[in-house]
Amino acid sequence: MPIPRIRTICCIGAGYVGGPTMAVIADKCPQIQVNVVDLNQSRIDAWNSKDLTQLPIYEPGLDEVIKRTRGRNLNFSVDINEAIANADIVFISVNTPTKNKGLGAGQASDLRWVEACARQVAQYSQGHTIVVEKSTLPVRTAATIKAILEAAQEAKETTKNISRTFSVVSNPEFLAEGSAIKDLEIPDRVLIGGSDPNAIEALASIYSHWVPTKKILRTNLWSSELSKLTANAFLAQRISSINSVAAICEVTGADVREVAIAIGTDSRIGNQFLNSGPGFGGSCFQKDILNLVYLCHHFGLPEVASYWEGVVLINSWQKKRIAKLVVHKLFGTVSGKRLAILGFAFKANTNDTREAASIQISKDLLEEGAHLAIYDPQVKEDRIASDLQQQPGFPSTWEAPEKNTQFYSEGIWVSCNSVAEAVEGSDAVIILTEWEEFRSVDWNNLATFMRKPAWVFDTRSIINVDSVITSGLRLWRIGDGES
Ligand code: NAD
Ligand code: UGA
Repeated sequence: MPIPRIRTICCIGAGYVGGPTMAVIADKCPQIQVNVVDLNQSRIDAWNSKDLTQLPIYEPGLDEVIKRTRGRNLNFSVDINEAIANADIVFISVNTPTKNKGLGAGQASDLRWVEACARQVAQYSQGHTIVVEKSTLPVRTAATIKAILEAAQEAKETTKNISRTFSVVSNPEFLAEGSAIKDLEIPDRVLIGGSDPNAIEALASIYSHWVPTKKILRTNLWSSELSKLTANAFLAQRISSINSVAAICEVTGADVREVAIAIGTDSRIGNQFLNSGPGFGGSCFQKDILNLVYLCHHFGLPEVASYWEGVVLINSWQKKRIAKLVVHKLFGTVSGKRLAILGFAFKANTNDTREAASIQISKDLLEEGAHLAIYDPQVKEDRIASDLQQQPGFPSTWEAPEKNTQFYSEGIWVSCNSVAEAVEGSDAVIILTEWEEFRSVDWNNLATFMRKPAWVFDTRSIINVDSVITSGLRLWRIGDGES
């Protein structure tokens, strides 16, 4: 069979990966029609909204790509069956969260959405279809997808209906949120795993419109699936490593930033992913490591499982210890005290809060009775309410604890529209996301609106230390403790 020519793509799943990835493919390959489909009507409506500030996800540069492609060769809809039927290639880019009940609960990936997609492709595809695993999946998931597709193929043959044939390839996505467009336009590599050389080359031909040939790696299916999990595990491991070093720095007088530079200049170690912080968040690191842990147990490798589990354990510990030390520095109680939380997204340049360290830290402080004034430039109030599982309180309840007996010990929060609004009347500022605007805060000015003695807790190493100290505020910074 010759290498199939790709004219029409269907991508199932219009999320953080499906949306931007397909937008960039459509941008780079104007001759290919790209149809992105999703079950979620409101998400599709948001992708179709005229006002580009209302796209369902915030990514720098995404609006420009959508402006160029939407309505030209990029289409968003809920017509899943039709898009499958018309497609030469179907990308499965749906969510694969950690299972929360049943076998493997708390570790294994929940593959129900992937299986549903495979069944739908089996039912509605026509002719030969290349099925691409774009979602992050446990090793050997392609075998499950193939089994579902082959069953459909056999059923059709016996009923003498139109023939349907399939090839399955793995093509994991390595984009990071906040830099998704850049990562897609200039990827470090594109990975394609499979056993059908024609399907691999057909997919490679799409990427070769803008990705240099030497960056398109080809492997077997299982190596590709495992490489994705391993890449995330290695990245997360570096963060847990540097966060554990930060804790040692705090008790020894070393400075984690200096240590990171000193070790990162060793070219064998490298300088990326050595920023100590409040603990990694995001929808994938924890889920993918837990999935790896589950697979290790499944394949009888308990020592390997506990090695990787340690990365997640350190991360949970890091979030807990930050909440605890805030309480400790504020004389052992935050009950009724106003604390400004700057940044709620799991990292800068995204509105995504999935698994953000801010959630656990805020919940722990609310549990202690704190009054949180939360400001994030991109995260909306209803997102925060859903993450904290608590509705916002009312600004009128902000009073110093000694004046406010009614709300003295009740943890409440409000969402604020600016740094200044969040900080006014607070006992402490806790920086949890490294948004650019937090770097240039005028501490001298803000200090005048805080209740003394007031603190700044910088978990992201972004503040100007001298300006905080000259403003008379007390400072705690990750990895060097109190200045
Ligand atoms: P997401 O939750 O943002 O989007 C998934 C979308 O799939 C949702 O809109 C959902 O409605 C849709 N969906 C689920 N089942 C469907 C079905 N049967 N038919 C049609 N639509 C369906 O998820 P995401 O962040 O885009 O992640 C998708 C996959 O990519 C996951 O496996 C994730 O691990 C992986 N990944 C994510 C990132 C990231 O930065 N978010 C990066 C690399 C890889
Ligand atoms: C991560 C990977 O970087 C991507 O390659 C991968 O495709 C993606 O997961 C995925 O599979 O979902 P993402 O989670 O979007 O991307 O963002 P990262 O930049 O990796 O940051 C993850 C978390 O680690 C954030 O909370 C960030 O603040 C934290 N981090 C990152 C640190 O604490 N220190 C660092 O040095 C780097």
